[in-house]
Amino acid sequence: MDDATPLPTVNRQVLLAQRPHGPVAPECFEHAQTPLPPLQDGQALLRVLYVSLDPTIRGWMESDTYLPAIPIGDPIRSGGVAEVIASRNDAFAVGSRYFAMTNWQEYVVADADLMGSPLPPDLDPVEALGVYGTTGITAWAGMTQVADVQEGDTVLVSGAAGGTGSVAGQIARILGAGRVVGIAGTDAKCAWITGELGFDAAVNYRTEDIDARIGELCPDGVDVFFDNVGGDTLEAALNHLALGARVVLCGAISGYNDAEPAPGPRNLMQLVVQRARMEGFLVLDYLDRFPEAALQLAVWVAEGRLRHREEVVTGGIEVAPRAFDRLFTGENMGKLVVQVWPRD
Ligand SMILES: NC(=O)c1ccc[n+]([C@@H]2O[C@H](COP(=O)([O-])OP(=O)(O)OC[C@H]3O[C@@H](n4cnc5c(N)ncnc54)[C@H](OP(=O)(O)O)[C@@H]3O)[C@@H](O)[C@H]2O)c1
Repeated sequence: MDDATPLPTVNRQVLLAQRPHGPVAPECFEHAQTPLPPLQDGQALLRVLYVSLDPTIRGWMESDTYLPAIPIGDPIRSGGVAEVIASRNDAFAVGSRYFAMTNWQEYVVADADLMGSPLPPDLDPVEALGVYGTTGITAWAGMTQVADVQEGDTVLVSGAAGGTGSVAGQIARILGAGRVVGIAGTDAKCAWITGELGFDAAVNYRTEDIDARIGELCPDGVDVFFDNVGGDTLEAALNHLALGARVVLCGAISGYNDAEPAPGPRNLMQLVVQRARMEGFLVLDYLDRFPEAALQLAVWVAEGRLRHREEVVTGGIEVAPRAFDRLFTGENMGKLVVQVWPRD
């Protein structure tokens, strides 16, 4: 933005109006137009280009989890990519881009303490939120740091056509898995992961008997189960663990909209019988390894061993609440982001 262009004076935001209890209702969100005060010395103004839609936002809206709950009246917390459009701080060059907690809004006023990291100018901002962002790095962390994939292993992934699961299954293959099976919610998703991503087989959990199908598709048992879903899916997978299996708990989206927590798996004794271990992880614990992970993912993509898909919803920040719902209805395939600017 050159010096002659007036700076924006209004910031469209989506605020947390009330906490969800059960499915996220439209009333949980408030659309606001907040005045943007003139920039002060030491500040920079960033325009948000894209925000990342992540299931974990649902938890931040409701209560304290591994991060404090979003305060009522604050913009919805989320990662995003933003570009500096005006600067009164030498540390922020106009035109430079950052991955940061941009939240659901059009502009971020940054002081010296912007929580974010600069992005290479040639990096696609959508991919910076997808395969090279926390989503891809979550798959990297879970598969390379927790799952302990061994040559020839049978690896089962739930949420396998989502941003995290689609990358996780392919990393398992790269690490030497002998068989990779995915669980997803539509035939189109199953066709995508087996056709384009190289999964050996897929289960449509909405139309097939998931327990029976895992048994058929993993005849030697499941050595690694990378779980994004929890609930009945986790219970079904536990029934088919191989000896010494590793169950990697990445998420449990099937329960995020439950007003009351569903009962846990009834078959945890399978962990005893199969001498298996079950371990959760948070990608935040690997923050210091993000550059290494992003580089590794980029190498795999460049080598043609890792494919990725990002879905971009346009229409400005106002569409974020409706787009967010797609994560829970299963309308997204691959990583879901909202394009904030340009609006169309
Ligand atoms: N541990 C960490 O640090 C970390 C970091 C990022 C994400 N995660 C977790 O990873 C998981 C995936 O996140 P993501 O951002 O990559 O989202 P995503 O997988 O791209 O989108 C969510 C997908 O979950 C599936 N789903 C929704 N409700 C479901 C239900 N009731 N039963 C079964 N599947 C359901 C849907 O696919 P279908 O059509 O297949 O149902 C939907 O497309 C989430 O559990 C998330 O919390 C964990």
